[in-house]
Amino acid sequence: MTIETLKIPQIALGTWAWGDSGEAGDGYFGSHLTRADLEEVADKAHAAGFTLWDTAMVYGMGRSETVLGDVLKRFARSDYQLSTKFTPQAAGTGDNPVADMLEQSLARLGTDYIDLYWIHNPADVARWTPYLIPLLKSGKVKHVGVSNHTLSEIKRANRILEESGFRVEAIQNHYSLLYRGSEDAGILDYCRSHGIPFFAYMVLEQGALTGRYSPENPLPEGTNRARAYNGMLPQLQALTDKLASIGQSHGAAAPDVATAWAIAKGATPIIGVTRPDYVDGLVRATSLTLTGDEVAELEALADAADVNTRGWWEKEM
Ligand SMILES: NC(=O)c1ccc[n+]([C@@H]2O[C@H](COP(=O)([O-])OP(=O)(O)OC[C@H]3O[C@@H](n4cnc5c(N)ncnc54)[C@H](OP(=O)(O)O)[C@@H]3O)[C@@H](O)[C@H]2O)c1
Repeated sequence: MTIETLKIPQIALGTWAWGDSGEAGDGYFGSHLTRADLEEVADKAHAAGFTLWDTAMVYGMGRSETVLGDVLKRFARSDYQLSTKFTPQAAGTGDNPVADMLEQSLARLGTDYIDLYWIHNPADVARWTPYLIPLLKSGKVKHVGVSNHTLSEIKRANRILEESGFRVEAIQNHYSLLYRGSEDAGILDYCRSHGIPFFAYMVLEQGALTGRYSPENPLPEGTNRARAYNGMLPQLQALTDKLASIGQSHGAAAPDVATAWAIAKGATPIIGVTRPDYVDGLVRATSLTLTGDEVAELEALADAADVNTRGWWEKEM
């Protein structure tokens, strides 16, 4: 059996905040994104060559997938790749909850296949991983990955897939200057030595590492990300200042440097894009090479901030 290789971009696009779109937004990000804004984001991203879109059923409980599917109708299906997820914690009670959730995602996204399908969280690796095999065989899913899995869970999932001639083709974990658990746990090294792409999510810590937010201008009150990050913004100031000053010396901005840091570490960042001009930052990040000293300086400041940005859905790696 030949497995077509997954096309890995330098940066993937995240759409969790798109689940907040419209009046029924769930308030996770507090983003008010109009259809016109998002079409502009997509047009700019595609023109710049960023065409892998990450979503999940649970982002706005279907809203992110619906909005993304609508916006992407302007492109030929072969011109972009879709990445979405099975979330065991939201599984239904049918005979095949994975196939059921996939069918719903396909309908919302307006497509008949997903390029990269993930087990979102490792509820029970032995139980859920085998469900991916018939989806791969049917072609409804082209490639599979696991997210938020520890190294031993990744290896276990891989063994299950290998028995049927498949394998874990991508890893997706929280990885940022402030949260380097996957590196400490040897997952980045494992990916490198096995040729598995490592997708880093929340590289910008949902906006807290962009320099756009500060104690004087906190993240939108009443949102989940405000609850997670506003209390630590004072400790992040020295780091975001350094990101900005390194950025200046490269003709770039603080978030571009945080993104370039993840690329320098061998990761493929998935950046949550909510405004068209953020795509310009992605372009700058891809042409920005940080020196070893700059990487070390940033990591030292990140350690000195002494904050724990682990998401409520994550466990220690
Ligand atoms: N597998 C998982 O469990 C998991 C978990 C979390 C996320 N993810 C995926 O990873 C993606 C990225 O994570 P995320 O969206 O939560 O957080 P993120 O990428 O760390 O941050 C996104 C936020 O940063 C701000 N931002 C982005 N680019 C910027 C720029 N150039 N300049 C200034 N601000 C900028 C925006 O906030 P404002 O709109 O406020 O400006 C945006 O909402 C998600 O969208 C999702 O696809 C996966």
